[in-house]
Amino acid sequence: MGSEVTKEFHDRPNRDRAAHAFAVRRERVPIRIERVVAIAGLAVALSIPVSGWSQDDESVEETVETLQAEVGRLNRTVQLQRGRKIYFQACSPCHGVRGDGKGPAARGFDPAPRNFRRGVYKFRTTVSGALPIDTDLEHTVREGVPGTEMVRWKGVLSDRDIKAVVQYVKTFSPYFEDPDSLPLPEDIIEIPEERPFEPSLASAAVGRQIFVDQDCLKCHGESGQGDGVEADRLVDDWDVPIRPADLTQPHFKNGRLDSDIFRVFTTGLNGTPMPAFDDLSEEQRWQLVDYIQSLEQKQGFLFWLFKDNPNQVRRPRPEARVEDAESGG
Ligand code: HEC
Ligand code: HEC
Repeated sequence: MGSEVTKEFHDRPNRDRAAHAFAVRRERVPIRIERVVAIAGLAVALSIPVSGWSQDDESVEETVETLQAEVGRLNRTVQLQRGRKIYFQACSPCHGVRGDGKGPAARGFDPAPRNFRRGVYKFRTTVSGALPIDTDLEHTVREGVPGTEMVRWKGVLSDRDIKAVVQYVKTFSPYFEDPDSLPLPEDIIEIPEERPFEPSLASAAVGRQIFVDQDCLKCHGESGQGDGVEADRLVDDWDVPIRPADLTQPHFKNGRLDSDIFRVFTTGLNGTPMPAFDDLSEEQRWQLVDYIQSLEQKQGFLFWLFKDNPNQVRRPRPEARVEDAESGG
Protein backbone atom coordinates (compact mmCIF):
# COMPACT_ATOMS: atom_id res chain seq x y z
CA MET A 1 0.00 0.00 0.00
CA GLY A 2 2.68 2.52 0.93
CA SER A 3 4.73 1.36 -2.03
CA GLU A 4 4.40 4.51 -4.11
CA VAL A 5 5.59 6.59 -1.25
CA THR A 6 8.35 4.12 -0.59
CA LYS A 7 9.49 4.17 -4.18
CA GLU A 8 9.73 7.90 -4.18
CA PHE A 9 12.20 7.72 -1.33
CA HIS A 10 14.31 5.10 -3.07
CA ASP A 11 14.51 6.97 -6.28
CA ARG A 12 16.86 9.41 -4.63
CA PRO A 13 20.15 7.87 -5.65
CA ASN A 14 22.50 10.09 -3.66
CA ARG A 15 20.73 9.42 -0.38
CA ASP A 16 21.04 5.72 -0.86
CA ARG A 17 24.55 5.87 -2.13
CA ALA A 18 25.68 7.98 0.80
CA ALA A 19 24.09 5.52 3.21
CA HIS A 20 25.55 2.52 1.43
CA ALA A 21 29.05 3.92 1.07
CA PHE A 22 28.99 4.71 4.74
CA ALA A 23 27.80 1.25 5.69
CA VAL A 24 30.74 -0.25 3.82
CA ARG A 25 33.36 2.08 5.26
CA ARG A 26 32.05 1.78 8.75
CA GLU A 27 33.24 -1.78 9.03
CA ARG A 28 36.80 -0.54 9.24
CA VAL A 29 36.46 1.98 12.08
CA PRO A 30 38.29 0.55 15.08
CA ILE A 31 37.16 2.31 18.25
CA ARG A 32 38.78 0.57 21.18
CA ILE A 33 38.80 3.47 23.57
CA GLU A 34 35.66 2.11 25.28
CA ARG A 35 37.93 -0.44 26.85
CA VAL A 36 39.88 2.36 28.47
CA VAL A 37 36.67 3.58 30.06
CA ALA A 38 35.72 0.09 31.15
CA ILE A 39 39.05 -0.25 32.89
CA ALA A 40 38.69 3.17 34.53
CA GLY A 41 35.21 2.16 35.73
CA LEU A 42 36.65 -1.01 37.18
CA ALA A 43 39.31 1.02 38.96
CA VAL A 44 36.59 3.12 40.63
CA ALA A 45 34.70 0.02 41.67
CA LEU A 46 37.84 -1.50 43.15
CA SER A 47 38.90 1.68 44.89
CA ILE A 48 35.73 1.74 47.02
CA PRO A 49 36.53 -1.14 49.37
CA VAL A 50 40.26 -0.32 49.36
CA SER A 51 39.89 3.29 50.42
CA GLY A 52 36.97 2.32 52.67
CA TRP A 53 39.30 0.40 54.96
CA SER A 54 41.83 3.13 55.38
CA GLN A 55 39.77 6.35 55.46
CA ASP A 56 36.77 7.74 57.30
CA ASP A 57 33.34 7.73 55.56
CA GLU A 58 33.38 11.34 54.41
CA SER A 59 36.68 11.18 52.58
CA VAL A 60 35.62 7.87 51.00
CA GLU A 61 32.55 9.55 49.61
CA GLU A 62 34.65 12.38 48.29
CA THR A 63 37.08 10.04 46.60
CA VAL A 64 34.25 8.10 44.99
CA GLU A 65 32.61 11.27 43.78
CA THR A 66 35.83 12.59 42.25
CA LEU A 67 36.47 9.30 40.53
CA GLN A 68 32.91 9.06 39.26
CA ALA A 69 33.14 12.58 37.86
CA GLU A 70 36.40 11.58 36.20
CA VAL A 71 34.78 8.54 34.60
CA GLY A 72 31.87 10.73 33.48
CA ARG A 73 34.28 13.12 31.79
CA LEU A 74 36.17 10.28 30.19
CA ASN A 75 32.95 8.73 28.90
CA ARG A 76 31.95 12.05 27.37
CA THR A 77 35.33 12.40 25.66
CA VAL A 78 35.04 8.89 24.25
CA GLN A 79 31.50 9.54 23.03
CA LEU A 80 32.54 12.79 21.34
CA GLN A 81 35.50 11.11 19.66
CA ARG A 82 33.25 8.40 18.35
CA GLY A 83 30.71 11.03 17.23
CA ARG A 84 33.41 13.02 15.50
CA LYS A 85 34.60 10.03 13.47
CA ILE A 86 31.07 9.24 12.37
CA TYR A 87 30.38 12.88 11.59
CA PHE A 88 33.40 13.21 9.33
CA GLN A 89 32.52 10.08 7.41
CA ALA A 90 28.78 10.28 7.22
CA CYS A 91 27.66 13.86 7.71
CA SER A 92 30.43 16.28 6.70
CA PRO A 93 30.02 15.65 2.94
CA CYS A 94 26.74 17.54 3.26
CA HIS A 95 26.90 19.46 6.53
CA GLY A 96 30.55 20.51 6.11
CA VAL A 97 33.58 19.87 8.31
CA ARG A 98 32.79 23.07 10.21
CA GLY A 99 29.11 22.24 10.55
CA ASP A 100 28.17 25.23 8.41
CA GLY A 101 26.07 23.24 5.93
CA LYS A 102 28.55 23.84 3.12
CA GLY A 103 29.80 20.33 2.50
CA PRO A 104 31.22 19.53 -0.95
CA ALA A 105 28.42 17.09 -1.78
CA ALA A 106 25.68 19.56 -1.00
CA ARG A 107 26.01 22.21 -3.67
CA GLY A 108 22.62 23.14 -5.04
CA PHE A 109 20.62 21.06 -2.59
CA ASP A 110 17.18 22.49 -1.89
CA PRO A 111 16.70 22.70 1.00
CA ALA A 112 20.36 23.14 1.91
CA PRO A 113 21.79 20.89 4.63
CA ARG A 114 21.36 22.47 8.04
CA ASN A 115 24.00 24.90 9.24
CA PHE A 116 24.53 23.63 12.79
CA ARG A 117 26.37 26.68 14.06
CA ARG A 118 23.33 28.70 15.09
CA GLY A 119 21.57 25.90 16.92
CA VAL A 120 18.32 26.52 15.02
CA TYR A 121 16.36 23.31 14.47
CA LYS A 122 13.04 22.74 12.78
CA PHE A 123 11.95 19.42 14.24
CA ARG A 124 11.51 19.50 17.97
CA THR A 125 9.30 18.63 20.87
CA THR A 126 10.09 21.99 22.48
CA VAL A 127 8.21 25.28 22.36
CA SER A 128 8.68 27.67 19.47
CA GLY A 129 12.12 29.29 19.48
CA ALA A 130 13.67 26.79 21.92
CA LEU A 131 16.64 24.50 21.31
CA PRO A 132 15.79 20.85 20.61
CA ILE A 133 16.43 18.15 23.19
CA ASP A 134 18.76 15.23 22.42
CA THR A 135 15.97 12.81 21.54
CA ASP A 136 14.62 15.27 18.94
CA LEU A 137 17.96 15.33 17.12
CA GLU A 138 18.33 11.56 17.47
CA HIS A 139 14.87 11.16 15.96
CA THR A 140 15.80 13.32 12.95
CA VAL A 141 19.01 11.38 12.36
CA ARG A 142 17.26 8.02 12.75
CA GLU A 143 14.31 8.83 10.48
CA GLY A 144 15.86 11.40 8.13
CA VAL A 145 13.80 14.22 6.63
CA PRO A 146 11.40 12.78 4.03
CA GLY A 147 11.37 14.61 0.72
CA THR A 148 14.87 16.09 1.24
CA GLU A 149 18.43 14.84 0.85
CA MET A 150 18.68 14.23 4.60
CA VAL A 151 19.24 10.49 4.73
CA ARG A 152 17.59 8.11 7.13
CA TRP A 153 20.36 6.56 9.26
CA LYS A 154 18.38 3.87 11.01
CA GLY A 155 19.78 0.50 9.96
CA VAL A 156 23.07 2.13 8.93
CA LEU A 157 24.17 3.57 12.27
CA SER A 158 23.57 1.85 15.59
CA ASP A 159 21.58 3.62 18.29
CA ARG A 160 24.80 4.26 20.15
CA ASP A 161 26.41 5.82 17.09
CA ILE A 162 23.39 8.02 16.52
CA LYS A 163 23.59 9.27 20.12
CA ALA A 164 27.32 9.90 19.72
CA VAL A 165 27.05 11.82 16.46
CA VAL A 166 24.25 13.97 17.88
CA GLN A 167 26.47 14.94 20.82
CA TYR A 168 29.16 15.92 18.33
CA VAL A 169 26.73 17.94 16.18
CA LYS A 170 25.78 19.92 19.28
CA THR A 171 29.39 21.06 19.76
CA PHE A 172 29.10 23.24 16.64
CA SER A 173 26.81 25.64 18.47
CA PRO A 174 27.79 27.47 21.68
CA TYR A 175 24.14 27.56 22.79
CA PHE A 176 24.14 23.91 23.81
CA GLU A 177 27.01 24.68 26.22
CA ASP A 178 25.14 27.53 27.87
CA PRO A 179 22.82 26.34 30.66
CA ASP A 180 20.67 29.47 30.27
CA SER A 181 19.88 28.57 26.65
CA LEU A 182 18.79 25.01 27.28
CA PRO A 183 15.05 24.24 27.27
CA LEU A 184 13.46 24.08 30.72
CA PRO A 185 11.34 21.06 31.65
CA GLU A 186 8.18 23.12 31.04
CA ASP A 187 9.38 23.94 27.51
CA ILE A 188 9.12 20.29 26.51
CA ILE A 189 5.81 19.38 24.94
CA GLU A 190 4.18 15.99 25.38
CA ILE A 191 2.03 15.11 22.40
CA PRO A 192 -0.86 12.88 23.51
CA GLU A 193 -0.62 9.42 21.91
CA GLU A 194 -4.38 9.04 21.91
CA ARG A 195 -6.60 11.48 20.11
CA PRO A 196 -9.58 12.76 22.05
CA PHE A 197 -11.96 12.03 19.15
CA GLU A 198 -11.99 9.97 15.95
CA PRO A 199 -11.40 11.68 12.61
CA SER A 200 -14.61 12.45 10.74
CA LEU A 201 -15.88 14.50 7.83
CA ALA A 202 -17.33 16.91 10.37
CA SER A 203 -14.04 17.51 12.18
CA ALA A 204 -12.23 17.94 8.85
CA ALA A 205 -14.84 20.51 7.83
CA VAL A 206 -14.28 22.49 11.04
CA GLY A 207 -10.55 22.13 10.35
CA ARG A 208 -11.01 23.72 6.94
CA GLN A 209 -12.65 26.72 8.56
CA ILE A 210 -9.73 27.05 10.98
CA PHE A 211 -7.35 26.81 8.02
CA VAL A 212 -9.16 29.78 6.45
CA ASP A 213 -9.49 31.79 9.69
CA GLN A 214 -5.83 31.34 10.63
CA ASP A 215 -4.67 32.54 7.22
CA CYS A 216 -2.88 29.31 6.39
CA LEU A 217 -4.07 29.98 2.84
CA LYS A 218 -1.76 32.92 2.34
CA CYS A 219 1.19 30.54 2.42
CA HIS A 220 -0.22 27.08 1.69
CA GLY A 221 -2.78 28.21 -0.89
CA GLU A 222 -6.52 27.72 -1.33
CA SER A 223 -6.22 23.96 -1.88
CA GLY A 224 -3.12 23.41 0.28
CA GLN A 225 -0.69 22.92 -2.59
CA GLY A 226 1.84 25.39 -1.25
CA ASP A 227 0.93 28.10 -3.73
CA GLY A 228 -0.51 30.90 -1.58
CA VAL A 229 0.03 34.59 -2.38
CA GLU A 230 3.00 34.76 0.01
CA ALA A 231 4.58 31.55 -1.23
CA ASP A 232 7.11 33.12 -3.59
CA ARG A 233 8.44 35.69 -1.13
CA LEU A 234 9.27 33.54 1.88
CA VAL A 235 12.85 33.12 3.08
CA ASP A 236 14.15 31.07 5.98
CA ASP A 237 16.49 32.23 8.77
CA TRP A 238 19.49 31.33 6.64
CA ASP A 239 18.28 33.78 3.95
CA VAL A 240 17.40 31.05 1.51
CA PRO A 241 14.04 31.15 -0.30
CA ILE A 242 11.71 28.52 1.11
CA ARG A 243 8.37 27.23 -0.15
CA PRO A 244 5.43 26.33 2.06
CA ALA A 245 4.79 22.59 2.19
CA ASP A 246 2.49 21.13 -0.45
CA LEU A 247 -0.02 19.62 1.95
CA THR A 248 -1.40 17.26 -0.70
CA GLN A 249 1.90 15.33 -0.82
CA PRO A 250 2.00 11.90 0.82
CA HIS A 251 4.96 12.73 3.06
CA PHE A 252 5.86 15.53 5.42
CA LYS A 253 9.29 16.32 6.79
CA ASN A 254 8.31 15.78 10.36
CA GLY A 255 6.26 12.62 9.68
CA ARG A 256 2.66 12.14 8.61
CA LEU A 257 1.13 10.54 11.66
CA ASP A 258 -1.71 12.56 13.14
CA SER A 259 0.51 13.21 16.17
CA ASP A 260 3.39 14.44 13.95
CA ILE A 261 1.17 17.03 12.30
CA PHE A 262 -0.29 18.02 15.66
CA ARG A 263 3.28 18.55 16.88
CA VAL A 264 4.13 20.89 13.99
CA PHE A 265 1.16 23.14 14.91
CA THR A 266 2.25 23.11 18.52
CA THR A 267 5.98 23.78 18.13
CA GLY A 268 6.22 25.52 14.74
CA LEU A 269 9.32 24.94 12.61
CA ASN A 270 12.14 27.15 13.95
CA GLY A 271 14.13 28.92 11.28
CA THR A 272 11.20 28.85 8.83
CA PRO A 273 8.13 31.06 8.35
CA MET A 274 5.93 28.18 9.57
CA PRO A 275 4.67 29.51 12.92
CA ALA A 276 3.44 27.66 16.00
CA PHE A 277 -0.33 27.70 16.47
CA ASP A 278 -0.22 26.85 20.13
CA ASP A 279 -2.91 29.39 20.96
CA LEU A 280 -5.46 27.17 19.20
CA SER A 281 -7.20 24.75 21.56
CA GLU A 282 -6.16 21.09 21.42
CA GLU A 283 -9.51 20.26 19.87
CA GLN A 284 -8.96 22.82 17.12
CA ARG A 285 -5.48 21.46 16.43
CA TRP A 286 -6.86 17.93 15.98
CA GLN A 287 -9.59 19.30 13.68
CA LEU A 288 -6.90 21.00 11.66
CA VAL A 289 -4.99 17.69 11.55
CA ASP A 290 -8.11 16.01 10.12
CA TYR A 291 -8.41 18.64 7.44
CA ILE A 292 -4.71 18.37 6.50
CA GLN A 293 -4.91 14.56 6.38
CA SER A 294 -7.93 14.80 4.07
CA LEU A 295 -5.85 16.73 1.54
CA GLU A 296 -3.54 13.89 0.65
CA GLN A 297 -4.07 13.70 -3.05
CA LYS A 298 -3.43 10.14 -4.03
CA GLN A 299 -5.87 8.40 -1.77
CA GLY A 300 -8.36 11.03 -0.72
CA PHE A 301 -10.35 11.65 2.38
CA LEU A 302 -12.82 8.76 2.07
CA PHE A 303 -10.01 6.24 1.76
CA TRP A 304 -8.28 7.70 4.76
CA LEU A 305 -11.48 7.77 6.80
CA PHE A 306 -12.42 4.15 6.21
CA LYS A 307 -9.13 2.33 6.21
CA ASP A 308 -8.31 0.26 9.31
CA ASN A 309 -5.59 2.32 10.83
CA PRO A 310 -5.05 5.66 9.17
CA ASN A 311 -1.70 6.22 10.79
CA GLN A 312 -0.01 2.96 10.06
CA VAL A 313 -1.17 2.59 6.51
CA ARG A 314 0.08 6.00 5.60
CA ARG A 315 3.53 5.52 6.99
CA PRO A 316 6.14 4.27 4.46
CA ARG A 317 7.29 0.86 5.65
CA PRO A 318 10.73 1.28 7.23
CA GLU A 319 11.88 -2.28 6.47
CA ALA A 320 11.12 -1.80 2.78
CA ARG A 321 13.15 1.35 2.68
CA VAL A 322 16.21 -0.20 4.24
CA GLU A 323 16.03 -3.29 2.00
CA ASP A 324 15.66 -1.23 -1.15
CA ALA A 325 18.51 1.03 -0.11
CA GLU A 326 20.72 -2.03 0.26
CA SER A 327 19.79 -3.74 -2.96
CA GLY A 328 19.66 -0.49 -4.97
CA GLY A 329 22.92 1.04 -3.69
C1 HEC B 1 23.16 13.80 1.47
C2 HEC B 1 23.23 14.97 2.32
C3 HEC B 1 23.12 14.80 3.84
C4 HEC B 1 23.84 13.95 4.66
C5 HEC B 1 24.88 12.92 4.25
C6 HEC B 1 23.40 14.24 5.99
N1 HEC B 1 22.47 15.23 6.00
FE1 HEC B 1 21.55 16.05 7.66
N2 HEC B 1 20.47 17.28 6.45
C7 HEC B 1 20.55 17.34 5.08
C8 HEC B 1 19.60 18.32 4.58
C9 HEC B 1 19.38 18.68 3.12
C10 HEC B 1 18.93 18.86 5.71
C11 HEC B 1 17.86 19.94 5.73
C12 HEC B 1 16.44 19.43 5.75
C13 HEC B 1 15.45 20.58 5.86
O1 HEC B 1 15.85 21.68 6.19
O2 HEC B 1 14.29 20.37 5.63
C14 HEC B 1 19.52 18.18 6.87
C15 HEC B 1 19.14 18.46 8.17
C16 HEC B 1 19.71 17.87 9.29
C17 HEC B 1 19.36 18.19 10.66
C18 HEC B 1 18.42 19.29 11.09
C19 HEC B 1 17.00 18.89 11.45
C20 HEC B 1 16.22 20.04 12.03
O3 HEC B 1 15.50 19.81 13.01
O4 HEC B 1 16.31 21.16 11.57
C21 HEC B 1 20.15 17.39 11.47
C22 HEC B 1 20.17 17.36 12.98
C23 HEC B 1 20.97 16.57 10.59
N3 HEC B 1 20.68 16.88 9.29
C24 HEC B 1 21.91 15.67 11.05
C25 HEC B 1 22.69 14.88 10.21
C26 HEC B 1 23.67 13.94 10.69
C27 HEC B 1 24.00 13.69 12.16
C28 HEC B 1 24.22 13.33 9.60
C29 HEC B 1 25.26 12.22 9.56
C30 HEC B 1 24.98 11.03 10.31
C31 HEC B 1 23.59 13.93 8.42
N4 HEC B 1 22.68 14.87 8.83
C32 HEC B 1 23.90 13.59 7.12
C33 HEC B 1 21.39 16.59 4.27
C34 HEC B 1 22.25 15.62 4.69
C1 HEC C 1 3.91 32.57 6.79
C2 HEC C 1 3.70 31.39 6.01
C3 HEC C 1 3.00 30.19 6.64
C4 HEC C 1 1.81 30.16 7.33
C5 HEC C 1 0.89 31.32 7.69
C6 HEC C 1 1.56 28.76 7.61
N1 HEC C 1 2.57 27.99 7.13
FE1 HEC C 1 2.67 25.96 7.26
N2 HEC C 1 4.53 26.00 6.42
C7 HEC C 1 5.15 27.14 5.92
C8 HEC C 1 6.43 26.77 5.38
C9 HEC C 1 7.42 27.72 4.72
C10 HEC C 1 6.57 25.37 5.57
C11 HEC C 1 7.73 24.50 5.12
C12 HEC C 1 8.86 24.43 6.13
C13 HEC C 1 9.98 23.55 5.62
O1 HEC C 1 9.87 22.98 4.54
O2 HEC C 1 10.98 23.47 6.30
C14 HEC C 1 5.34 24.92 6.22
C15 HEC C 1 5.08 23.62 6.57
C16 HEC C 1 3.85 23.15 7.02
C17 HEC C 1 3.52 21.76 7.26
C18 HEC C 1 4.41 20.58 6.98
C19 HEC C 1 5.33 20.23 8.11
C20 HEC C 1 6.23 19.06 7.72
O3 HEC C 1 6.38 18.18 8.57
O4 HEC C 1 6.76 19.02 6.61
C21 HEC C 1 2.22 21.72 7.67
C22 HEC C 1 1.41 20.50 8.02
C23 HEC C 1 1.75 23.09 7.70
N3 HEC C 1 2.77 23.94 7.32
C24 HEC C 1 0.48 23.47 8.03
C25 HEC C 1 0.07 24.78 8.23
C26 HEC C 1 -1.23 25.17 8.74
C27 HEC C 1 -2.36 24.23 9.05
C28 HEC C 1 -1.22 26.52 8.85
C29 HEC C 1 -2.29 27.41 9.43
C30 HEC C 1 -2.82 27.05 10.74
C31 HEC C 1 0.06 26.99 8.35
N4 HEC C 1 0.81 25.91 7.99
C32 HEC C 1 0.44 28.31 8.26
C33 HEC C 1 4.66 28.42 5.94
C34 HEC C 1 3.48 28.81 6.54
